[in-house]
Amino acid sequence: MKYLVTYLSHTGNTRKVAEAMFDALPGEKIIKPIEEVVTLDGFDIAFVGFPVMQFSPPRAAREFLKNHAAGKKIAVFVTHAMPTGSDDLGQQSMLAKELEKCRSACIKSDLLGLFHCQGELSEKSANELMASNIAMLMEFAAMRPLTAGHPDQGELELARSFALAVVSASC
Ligand SMILES: Cc1cc2nc3c(=O)[nH]c(=O)nc-3n(C[C@H](O)[C@H](O)[C@H](O)COP(=O)(O)O)c2cc1C
Repeated sequence: MKYLVTYLSHTGNTRKVAEAMFDALPGEKIIKPIEEVVTLDGFDIAFVGFPVMQFSPPRAAREFLKNHAAGKKIAVFVTHAMPTGSDDLGQQSMLAKELEKCRSACIKSDLLGLFHCQGELSEKSANELMASNIAMLMEFAAMRPLTAGHPDQGELELARSFALAVVSASC
């Protein structure tokens, strides 16, 4: 089996998850940023990661999935600012909608699984969101303290387990 781990990451969170998954995978494997991937041909499973931006997969990730991942076996991993274990129904519903959009972007692929976890909002990102004047993005900026330290060691361990579970399920 040959695996590709590829990711889009502006501030390093999704890259950390990618590296954890890559470390856990057995056998032949390659890790590369999305912009360096020419084709998914030749890989048995591609692990494709990106951050949620403005409630959706970023355009570069959507285009990558559309152009390269149709008909391919993929597993997706996503980082976002939303807390995962929140009791807040509004936050739960927002996160569910974001993840649904991530799934929809993979509709033409054979999606083997979707992993997600929180990713720290950098100070620069929070300032940009605050400057957007879009109320919901400004709310994300205000959540910055809740995102500190993510993905944490526990989440990276879950990412490793996810990668192994995808592999075992497809053997
Ligand atoms: C411009 C911008 C928009 C964002 N929009 C969202 C969003 O809509 N929902 C969300 O949960 N997180 C949002 N985030 C938070 C990022 O998804 C999160 O910090 C992610 O872990 C960043 O990953 P990276 O370090 O791999 O780029 C946004 C961040 C930025 C900078």
